[in-house]
Amino acid sequence: MVLRKGSTGYGTAQQFTEPRREYADFLTPINSFFSIDCVNVNKPHIPVMLHSVVEALSPVDGANFADVTAGAGGHLAAICERIAPSGYVMALDQDERAFQDDAAGGVVARFPKNSVLLRANFEEIAACARKQGLEGFDGILADLGVSSMHFDEMERGFSFRHDGPIDMRMDTRQGENAYDLLARLKQDQLADLIFELGEERFSRRIARSIKSKWPMPNSTLELAKRVQDAVPGAVRSRRHPATKTFQALRMAVNRELDVLETFIESAAALLVPGGRLGIITFHSLEDRIVKNKFRNFVRESKNFQLFSKKPLTPSPFEVQENPRARSAKFRVLIRRQDDRE
Ligand SMILES: C[S@@+](CC[C@H](N)C(=O)[O-])C[C@H]1O[C@@H](n2cnc3c(N)ncnc32)[C@H](O)[C@@H]1O
Repeated sequence: MVLRKGSTGYGTAQQFTEPRREYADFLTPINSFFSIDCVNVNKPHIPVMLHSVVEALSPVDGANFADVTAGAGGHLAAICERIAPSGYVMALDQDERAFQDDAAGGVVARFPKNSVLLRANFEEIAACARKQGLEGFDGILADLGVSSMHFDEMERGFSFRHDGPIDMRMDTRQGENAYDLLARLKQDQLADLIFELGEERFSRRIARSIKSKWPMPNSTLELAKRVQDAVPGAVRSRRHPATKTFQALRMAVNRELDVLETFIESAAALLVPGGRLGIITFHSLEDRIVKNKFRNFVRESKNFQLFSKKPLTPSPFEVQENPRARSAKFRVLIRRQDDRE
């Protein structure tokens, strides 16, 4: 596979109706890695838009990278393989689950000289880099949201399909979980939150259903049932009616939009000349933040340019292989090589 810095087009909406040969390239190293190292070999983790990430961020031997959402370690493994033997990756995740051997923890164990995994929120990227003695990065990747590992573990409370506590914190050290948030908010405030972060048009009915009957729901299935009861049957789609409400609560508990804004500011300042910041989003509110922030950088300074005007998106083949990728959008900001004003 030839990686061309600056070339565009992979994973864009230019329609690939046939599976592309290059996908064989991207599936091979990841699957071979996971079939060796993962506990669950039958369910390999497929990193979203891996080919586009490698193409756009161009990790090469000797480069310094940051993967700030290390998770199951899929992107991280691909980056480590390419920056070794002389490059370095600072990986972050706020969730301790990422530190296990079947996740990013296993990847850094394979590349002990070329990587470190720190438990931190990515809004702290600048402080983490300072502590590691790193002054800047050639590439920074953020693949937002929660990982499939979160949904599979019912005690984490992310899923409306399994019964568990209403928790939803990615970082279990932090204070308020989703149950406490539900208890604290007044009905109107809860309706606003579900409307704004979930873009849910039945937010008022849902908030009433959750808050007006005592006791409050105490488990994820009870919560999902209250939401389901509030959504008129006639408008139910193929999606579970609780999808948007759970998403809104998760985003609020983890302050996902706030930390994203802070992260983009800090990360852009950490790019070395020629460096690239890539962000994969799965939600229109997140994508809007990335799009606007990147545009502002380009407008306000000649030092920055966009990798592509439109976000890169997964090919139909990737979506078929990995349905989680279907709403992914990947935007890349480039700090110009010669950025003297
Ligand atoms: C979609 S998964 C990343 C998957 C990863 N790229 C891979 O290929 O395995 C997102 C990960 O980022 C972590 N995460 C989300 N928001 C974060 C934040 N603000 N700071 C640090 N980690 C975060 C989550 O805990 C989760 O493990």
